[in-house]
Amino acid sequence: MRLVHWSPEEMFARLDDVLFIYAEAMNYQHEIVEMRRGFIAAHTQRAGFRAVATMDGDKVAGFSYGYHGKPGQWWHEQVRSGLTAAGYQRWMADCFELVELHVLPYAQGHGLGQAQLLSLLDGVPRRTVILSTPEGESRAWRLYRRMGFQDVLRDHEFLGDDRPFAVLGHDLPLDQPDPPGA
Ligand SMILES: CC(C)(COP(=O)(O)OP(=O)(O)OC[C@H]1O[C@@H](n2cnc3c(N)ncnc32)[C@H](O)[C@@H]1OP(=O)(O)O)[C@@H](O)C(=O)NCCC(=O)NCCS
Repeated sequence: MRLVHWSPEEMFARLDDVLFIYAEAMNYQHEIVEMRRGFIAAHTQRAGFRAVATMDGDKVAGFSYGYHGKPGQWWHEQVRSGLTAAGYQRWMADCFELVELHVLPYAQGHGLGQAQLLSLLDGVPRRTVILSTPEGESRAWRLYRRMGFQDVLRDHEFLGDDRPFAVLGHDLPLDQPDPPGA
């Protein structure tokens, strides 16, 4: 397994893999995830876009991407609506938004998600990183807590989604984590 950085064009060319992995990792129906194709394609054109993939030979086993979040963007405004002005300044005034982080089920639990996260955020020229994740115990939660992510919002509702989400954040750069089992 090896990590590679994708340019916007490289990720665009891999959209079939990206959507497949997203659906498999999240256990979503592929038809539902397909509806996100246009949004993800548009994200590759956003300022500060970065993407990292895990390659297993010539197959993609995982990917992660994000960009420099800005006012007017849907997710940015959805999160801002739950924050005070001070909270916005603290977390969103100069932030990298981590949009997706997924590893195919067969490859999970070996540190690949963590490696993707560290590689994606290495050298990002922003003050903070923020992300949203469904509330409830999961491997994603364990990863974010292990990396020291703090609560920005809890039980936040995004328009059009019934599930409660947590918004988590961290100052950049990230600290290097303790080795597993330490
Ligand atoms: C969340 C996700 C990306 C994490 O990736 P991962 O490769 O499975 O997990 P990590 O990189 O955190 O690996 C950590 C696990 O591997 C183990 N591990 C083995 N070798 C390791 C190493 N060298 N370094 C770190 N962890 C290692 C750890 O003990 C840990 O096990 P645990 O989670 O049971 O405590 C992945 O599980 C996933 O795609 N989940 C479904 C989709 C999802 O929830 N995405 C996030 C949405 S916000």
